[in-house]
Amino acid sequence: VLPRQGIIARYRDWLPVPPEAEPLTLGEGDTPLIRADRLLEELPRDRRPPAVFLKFEGANPTGSFKDRGMTMALTCARARGAQAVICASTGNTAAAAAAYAARAGMDCWLVLPAGGVAAGKVGQAVACGARILPVRGSFDDALAAVRQVVAERPELVLVNSLNPDRLEGQKTAAFEVVDQLAAIGLDERAAVFLPVGNGGNITAYHMGFRAYAAAGRLGRVPRLYGVQAEGAAPLVRGRPVDRPQTLASAIRIGRPVYGEKALAAVRDTGGRVLAVSDEEILAAQRLLARLEGVFAEPASAASVAGLLKLARGDEPGWEVPEGPVVCVLTGHGLKDVDTALRAARASGGEGGDLEALEALEARALDPE
Ligand code: F0G
Repeated sequence: VLPRQGIIARYRDWLPVPPEAEPLTLGEGDTPLIRADRLLEELPRDRRPPAVFLKFEGANPTGSFKDRGMTMALTCARARGAQAVICASTGNTAAAAAAYAARAGMDCWLVLPAGGVAAGKVGQAVACGARILPVRGSFDDALAAVRQVVAERPELVLVNSLNPDRLEGQKTAAFEVVDQLAAIGLDERAAVFLPVGNGGNITAYHMGFRAYAAAGRLGRVPRLYGVQAEGAAPLVRGRPVDRPQTLASAIRIGRPVYGEKALAAVRDTGGRVLAVSDEEILAAQRLLARLEGVFAEPASAASVAGLLKLARGDEPGWEVPEGPVVCVLTGHGLKDVDTALRAARASGGEGGDLEALEALEARALDPE
């Protein structure tokens, strides 16, 4: 197999793809596992894991991990003769659905929370020709609307993570983490930090690690740490959140469909769920960019914020994982530059050049 031919070509034996189905791919997966030694040094000396890695899912074709699930969902939908797909989204699922549907020549309907999707993601979806239906409310309201539509219009294939093909595709990220760590001789028990919104992705990682363990490719399943934003942390609070709020719009979700499964994954592996504030998320986003040159969207930086918080040891019983730590950076920073620029301005341009930035923007608006 040529490199970067997509996750279906690479992991077909592990995926429930119809035998005759031709993969619909943009070359997703095979994303870098980046060693983050400068970030590691930010952790208190006596509470450092042996190594920290960044699984940069922003390097996928549409800039997020959703491509892994969407290549599966659209490949299977096309093999079954589907003509149109639909999903609710905080943005990344929408961008991925729009791209893969365009490639398949299918119609794509996106139900999006008005005012709740970062501009980069909307731009991608519009460019790919998707039809957008804005709804008042949160992602949870959008998903409820989509479920109703699909019940009445079965010809529309649902490509939210409720579609089991999605999680099958996303579990390949767990395979890659194991394979990449093994390739550099790290076969200790790892810990994986993930941002959690609807809970689908952490469930998919759990599926992937379990499948590898069952096949004898992995000794011990990594501990899974699920990180939510404080204003949208139903799993940490133990109850749904009606008006979820966080600047990490990708994970602004109050009623996670996979909440129970996410908690089961965390319990099964001896990890935990934790919540981080928006300030902690922005600080982590900035550290990642400044220390490692990796620009991740705010929701993705939540995984790093979770590690930093755990390492500070603010709460009793917060042991630092003993093996290598992998923080999954689920989406690219370019998805949401507005938030990064706003944060830079709010911090007074500290270390950056605020005046230059303003002049640049002023000129962009006024060519004279
Ligand atoms: N990180 C990013 C960048 C996301 O876009 C999402 C979810 C998550 C983490 C959380 O994954 O929902 O499986 O727990 N985005 C969805 C979307 C909701 O519509 O793009 P999860």
